[in-house]
Amino acid sequence: MKAQAIFAAAVALANVELVQAHTFIWGVWVNGVDQGTGRGIRAPAYNGPPPRGYANSPVKDLTSIDMRCNVLGDKQNPYTIKVQPGDNLTFDWHHNNRTKADDVIDYSHHGPALVYLSPDPPTENSFVKIWEKGLYELGAEPFSPGKWATTADIKANNGLMNVRIPAGLKAGHYLVRAELIGLHEADASYDKNPIRGAQFYPNCVQIEVVGDGTVELPAGVSFPGAYKYGEPGVLHDVYCSTKTTSLKVPCTTTYQIPGPTVWSGAWPETTQVELGPVTGAITATLWSSWISKSVVTLATYVGNSPQVVATSTYQASWSAKYAAPTPVA
Ligand SMILES: *[C@@H]1O[C@H](CO)[C@@H](O)[C@H](O)[C@H]1NC(C)=O
Ligand SMILES: *[C@@H]1O[C@H](CO)[C@@H](O)[C@H](O)[C@H]1NC(C)=O
Repeated sequence: MKAQAIFAAAVALANVELVQAHTFIWGVWVNGVDQGTGRGIRAPAYNGPPPRGYANSPVKDLTSIDMRCNVLGDKQNPYTIKVQPGDNLTFDWHHNNRTKADDVIDYSHHGPALVYLSPDPPTENSFVKIWEKGLYELGAEPFSPGKWATTADIKANNGLMNVRIPAGLKAGHYLVRAELIGLHEADASYDKNPIRGAQFYPNCVQIEVVGDGTVELPAGVSFPGAYKYGEPGVLHDVYCSTKTTSLKVPCTTTYQIPGPTVWSGAWPETTQVELGPVTGAITATLWSSWISKSVVTLATYVGNSPQVVATSTYQASWSAKYAAPTPVA
């Protein structure tokens, strides 16, 4: 199956009820102006016929290429969002629908939120961390997780994540790699126990920085590669992050966010700017192709039931050279 066809399927949105509460970015506001649902976002592939939806399941294999920009993260979106240094971007994370009523991410998925920036296409060690937030208030009760960026901040704020384009950043094409990490099963390591382990939700947004900035990104990290099994930010018991002594060991009330330190050229603070209305779809529609465990399935529908037409194997291919995205008719 042609990559373009898979991509076309991936940019349409799916009207489905999902059992699990996972998440990805549905839209981006630039200085409060919505750029339109799905625009500029390398949406993850669908992961099965209804009632399943986007492959918004977590990536847990730290060696997988999907750690970079999620499943099909190598496929360009036809739109690239134009920004200037100093612009305030707001990402809209959702699960089922782009609405305030949407649950964004399951209440149990406590963990940090991070944003990286890389030239597009990425090269070795090109992802630079520009924002992060982790555990910011300890829980008071035994086994209470405290306040985390994913649940107490982003979920509580209807899925909104704020980031600001670095001052003076040189013009060019970049990928913003935004990431939520669910640590609710991170007291086990995925390489030892694949049923559990930390859950990563990376999602990439294509931006073109314009203007006459001169600031270049320093060296950063690679995805995959930046995170290691067993490191403190990846192996962590959220229910030990409490003021009260827990019975579980090892137990710590501090949490070290994984990856490098935030680049000194990034803004130390991000603010929530006033947001204009959402433009574009807020719900999703049926789809006819999906990818699960690298198998691409193409189907037609008889009523609501998919009839499989063909399958093929998908292999991500990241070009080392920037190619202009193919616009859609
Ligand atoms: C998403 O929105 C559609 C259309 O309004 C609605 O039918 C559906 O129940 C919503 N899904 C969830 C899980 O809220
Ligand atoms: C971004 O937000 C900051 C803080 O509120 C504000 O000072 C700045 O003017 C905003 N940038 C733009 C381009 O609006």
